[in-house]
Amino acid sequence: MTVCTIARLGEPILRRVAEAVTPEDRSSGRLAQWVTDLIETMRAVSGAGLAAPQVFVSKAVCVIEVRENRRYPFFPEIPLTVLVNPRLTPLTAGDRPEECITVYEGCLSVPGLRGRVSRPRAVRVQAEDAAGNSLDFVWEGVRAAVVQHEVDHLFGKLFVDRADSGTLMFYEEFERYVPVEARAVDGQIQDG
Ligand code: NI
Repeated sequence: MTVCTIARLGEPILRRVAEAVTPEDRSSGRLAQWVTDLIETMRAVSGAGLAAPQVFVSKAVCVIEVRENRRYPFFPEIPLTVLVNPRLTPLTAGDRPEECITVYEGCLSVPGLRGRVSRPRAVRVQAEDAAGNSLDFVWEGVRAAVVQHEVDHLFGKLFVDRADSGTLMFYEEFERYVPVEARAVDGQIQDG
């Protein structure tokens, strides 16, 4: 099993726009290797997702999975999802509370830190899977937040760029001071 070294905040690769995955990346088997490495590393370090630039591969591929996650016990389960060359279209504007999903996000590339990020609560996801099939689906709530966080990595963006700076805190303080019900707030569900 491979557990890749994870690039931390400050590594230039985290700030680059990842290159598109090409047919040659598929036919050569490189894509399959990247996907395997991402899944094994994500599971080994209890990530909710992992993007290729985080393991020093500047390519547009990310993986997502949440299953009894110890870093995010307040997240719903998300089946293993592999996104190649993903494109997101927000389905809500995200400037009114009921259009937002607000989550105290963290990131394996920013170890120990959490911060509150509000994002559009519904997104259309278009991508290919590992086998080259087209994907086209809508995710809402926490799932929408997770996929936006991962796809941000492919564009050189990190959650600390989007977090309210006054809400940044270390994990221990997050556990101590942020009530469970405030850790992920779906505007639509919260107030109807
Ligand atoms: Ni991240």
